[in-house]
Amino acid sequence: MGDRGDKEAKQAMAGVFSRAAPHYDRVVTSFFDRLGTDLVDFVGLGPGTQVLDVACGRGATVFPASARVGEEGRVVGIDLAPGMIDVLRDEVERLGISNVESRVADAETIPYPDDSFDAVLCGFALFFFPDSHRALTEFHRVLTPGGRLGISTFTPMVSEGLAWFGELVRDALGMPSRGDETIQFDQPDQLKDALNAAGFSDIEIQRQSCKVSVLGADHFWEWMWSIGIRGMLEHLDESTAGSVRRAAATHLDNELGPPPYSFDADSWLTRAVRV
Ligand SMILES: C[S@@+](CC[C@H](N)C(=O)[O-])C[C@H]1O[C@@H](n2cnc3c(N)ncnc32)[C@H](O)[C@@H]1O
Repeated sequence: MGDRGDKEAKQAMAGVFSRAAPHYDRVVTSFFDRLGTDLVDFVGLGPGTQVLDVACGRGATVFPASARVGEEGRVVGIDLAPGMIDVLRDEVERLGISNVESRVADAETIPYPDDSFDAVLCGFALFFFPDSHRALTEFHRVLTPGGRLGISTFTPMVSEGLAWFGELVRDALGMPSRGDETIQFDQPDQLKDALNAAGFSDIEIQRQSCKVSVLGADHFWEWMWSIGIRGMLEHLDESTAGSVRRAAATHLDNELGPPPYSFDADSWLTRAVRV
């Protein structure tokens, strides 16, 4: 994709996540919040640490990081979607937290000088960036030497468990099937190579098991509207959306048995050091 295509894709992404923000991670039993805490613990942030959380969303890693770094530390959250930053700011204010700042910014052009942070976190977003190498190079640039990076990504289990729904929507929109294609960086070696190429060392990757429980077909539909696939659902007209919704309900009933439906959602937690 050229620079113009990337710009348009980013604008569309920011719109989708802004509209998803009020319900994001609040429909099913928390997934992102739980794994955000796991990532913060895996990276290990002590009091006084200066942290940048890239693509922070509504704060899944911001809040646990803020608790670990304490009053002497600072957590800066950046995200492309203004709606996510609005929800995060409201929550920070509501909780009276004083060591968190946030702003709208792009992971590929981080608006901070070199060597500004002791730790950089990026939860479930690296695969959304059109130029992930550029983003990883930016993470490296803003980290102090010896600084730590923490990244979370999905295992193939996540794309495989929801592939049928993606295909239903793609078919309804007249888009080609994705075949066996899964989400980028769902193989540990992919991320290892990308981190090495961006100058990181001491890379460690851990699998974190997670299950998402869905109460029924309506709950499933609501969940899909609260996450990234919303970007495709928004293109369905009302009648086609109704057909997709009914087909999804039939699939859930036939393939996953009586509700509640359980989805395996294991993820990778990765930590690395900036050389
Ligand atoms: C799946 S959400 C993850 C949010 C949060 N880190 C979490 O774990 O809940 C992906 C986030 O990436 C953000 N995003 C996508 N592209 C971005 C970019 N180029 N720069 C900054 N944020 C971006 C989206 O707006 C969205 O909030």
